[in-house]
Amino acid sequence: MVNKLIVANWKMNGSAAGLADYVRALADLPLVICPPAPLLPLAAGLMKDTALKLGAQDCHAEPAGAFTGDVSASLIHELGAQYVIVGHSERRRGHGESDAFIWRKAGLASAVGMVPILCVGEREGEDTAAVVAAQLQGLSAFEGKELVVAYEPLWAISAAGTGRMPTPAEVKEIHLTIKVILEKTLPNIRTSVIYGGSVKAENALFILGEKAVDGVLVGAASLDSAQMVGIYQASIEAQVGQ
Ligand code: PGA
Repeated sequence: MVNKLIVANWKMNGSAAGLADYVRALADLPLVICPPAPLLPLAAGLMKDTALKLGAQDCHAEPAGAFTGDVSASLIHELGAQYVIVGHSERRRGHGESDAFIWRKAGLASAVGMVPILCVGEREGEDTAAVVAAQLQGLSAFEGKELVVAYEPLWAISAAGTGRMPTPAEVKEIHLTIKVILEKTLPNIRTSVIYGGSVKAENALFILGEKAVDGVLVGAASLDSAQMVGIYQASIEAQVGQ
């Protein structure tokens, strides 16, 4: 039985005031929590001696320099982040990030000692396999020990407002496609493929019940610690027999 990876992406939500209660409620669970960057030092302190792991939502593709408002991979690692999300669709769209820029972020994050969580996924109507293959093709140069790929169809992210998700069978199919690509391009690196897009306690078991789903990236529902407990419980239930 391999533990599934459950990642909370708070996005631009949450506050310092609510963090202590949140951490206390989840302290015993092996979840990755990605709060906004300014909360990283506080979160790292609160998470000390808990089962929780800290992640960041983004880092820059350059190690340091004149990039006002950006945050370097080495700084977030120094603040305690073990994981960092790169290439989230909200950054690709809102900040014009290219695939090449995102692959560099993943490499740099790994070089400083973090596990990158690289997001891929199609827009409504696009050819999923073709989009995902293009978003992964530059990873052949990736050096590091571990990489997580998060498959997030843009239309299924709760903020998109469609109220729809792919079926577990559809998720399984694209995850297997991604795994084949990763085995070919990164044969010596530990890789896993997680799903993101409208995951909540109520539907987590359907998605995590697929063996090809190594975990979930949770946005809106992750702000509620009770939801995270429910998703974790679903992951334990799903793992039995996988
Ligand atoms: P959601 O977000 O769970 O709110 O759909 C997932 C994500 O964008 O990472």
